Amino acid sequence: MSERPVRVLVTVASRHGATAEIGAEIARCLDGSGAAAVAIPVEQRPDPTAFDAVIIGSAVYAGRWLEPAREYAAAHAGLLRTRPVWLFSSGPIGAAPFPPDEPHDIAPLAALTGADGHTVFPGRLDPTRLAFGERAMATAMRAPVGDFRDWDAIRAWAAGVAAALGVRTATAG
Ligand SMILES: Cc1cc2nc3c(=O)[nH]c(=O)nc-3n(C[C@H](O)[C@H](O)[C@H](O)COP(=O)(O)O)c2cc1C
Repeated sequence: MSERPVRVLVTVASRHGATAEIGAEIARCLDGSGAAAVAIPVEQRPDPTAFDAVIIGSAVYAGRWLEPAREYAAAHAGLLRTRPVWLFSSGPIGAAPFPPDEPHDIAPLAALTGADGHTVFPGRLDPTRLAFGERAMATAMRAPVGDFRDWDAIRAWAAGVAAALGVRTATAG
């Protein structure tokens, strides 16, 4: 008798792709023995009722999650509170994380969704991808340029989620 895999939704708001790639890696790590994970952009409004657990992620701009991710969490709050939910943010850049503070809206979003946890992953600032206004803002803030994403930390976090769900990850075997 084979048990049904735990269905995990990873849904992410990303402006310039860095957070989308983190979401895809989390889904890749979770997908495997015991779990079936998919990564779907939050703008596609995936229906969470079809999933046993949900991970919502967003890039952070001006101290906040992107609006589509905030709206998704609010729109599905009732259902999300009945599921295991984890949140992640992709934001700070540089060797000493810049900016150092958590996104302002994480505490209310975590309360709204009944999240089991939230983590912040360092992000990527690639000036070639930015709109003119964003580039001007990044220059004015003297924001460090580069890709600071820590793939080992991302995979370790995904393994922790898998453990909480009682499934083994593809990478951990
Ligand atoms: C104009 C601008 C403002 C930003 N503001 C913040 C911020 O307030 N907090 C933060 O942690 N990161 C901030 N960042 C960094 C981005 O969130 C980070 O680079 C992220 O990985 C980008 O993800 P994306 O490529 O999925 O959009 C900012 C970046 C830009 C260009």
